[in-house]
Amino acid sequence: MELKLTGLTKSFGALTAVDHVSCVMTSGVYGLLGVNGAGKTTLMRILCTLLAPSGGTATWDGADIFALGSEYRRILGYLPQDFGFYPDFTVEEYLLYIASIKGLRPAVAKRRSGELIEQVGLSGARKKKMKKLSGGMKRRAGIAQAMLNDPKILILDEPTAGLDPNERIRFRNLLSELAAERLVLLSTHIVSDVEYIAKEILLMREGRFHAGGTAEQLIAAMGDKVWRVAADKREVDGYLRQYKVANIKSVGEGAVLRVLSPTCPAETAQEEPPTLEDVFLYYFGEGSGEGNDAI
Ligand SMILES: Nc1ncnc2c1ncn2[C@@H]1O[C@H](COP(=O)(O)OP(=O)(O)O)[C@@H](O)[C@H]1O
Ligand SMILES: [Mg+2]
Repeated sequence: MELKLTGLTKSFGALTAVDHVSCVMTSGVYGLLGVNGAGKTTLMRILCTLLAPSGGTATWDGADIFALGSEYRRILGYLPQDFGFYPDFTVEEYLLYIASIKGLRPAVAKRRSGELIEQVGLSGARKKKMKKLSGGMKRRAGIAQAMLNDPKILILDEPTAGLDPNERIRFRNLLSELAAERLVLLSTHIVSDVEYIAKEILLMREGRFHAGGTAEQLIAAMGDKVWRVAADKREVDGYLRQYKVANIKSVGEGAVLRVLSPTCPAETAQEEPPTLEDVFLYYFGEGSGEGNDAI
């Protein structure tokens, strides 16, 4: 079970949305983390064979995914970023409908839909219309449809968008469960979605992978660049102009800042251990901190 990308590239005219991306993925959860416009959806659409690359290759167990064609798509499940559903279908009808599109035999479709409704925790909502579901329930129905063919590769594009904190937790647990014997690639711009469940986090920016590894490895690679600085209220603007600031907390007449900087920003600054959130911000965040290419 190996999905291998080699120099994968996609250009739209002058814009290179995916720029020579390479990596090897096996089973487990892979988190594709990047801000809007990073190229996540474009990459995923290539991996679903919906979009031909301009260059490079993607292979599944050594065979080109486009050459494999329908053989590859049979083992693929995909939840698009803005997945279409049918508002007046019930959850059950929706799944049976998608199953028929996927070519599942009616008896198999019925059994799989039933199992998946249970697994994604929608048993109480099976007769509910899709339009009546909460955001989290809709997404879970979306995952269920992607899982109908028991795919070896499950690609989920921003599956946590619009979910509340409880729904997020539930979602993470579900994903860990589903990833036991398949490759799950999920995209997000929210660090906590992948921090604990991803076997590997791929940081994507402007079409490229800038770093990859476990949360611990990414944190270690960033090194000591987080500082706690106590400042006067009137000094805060200066810090914001000069550095990337992860957090500002008002304390009495002053403020305590979490400054990201390769060099010590103030005599009184104290070093703090970095978090994955700091790595993401240091790397992708707005601000004028220097040394952004340091990891
Ligand atoms: N079909 C397309 N035609 C032209 N530009 C596109 C197309 N699809 C995506 N892009 C551009 O490619 C870049 C990456 O987009 P996308 O893959 O959607 O990123 P993300 O999913 O990380 O937000 C963006 O600048 C986007 O505007
Ligand atoms: Mg996207």
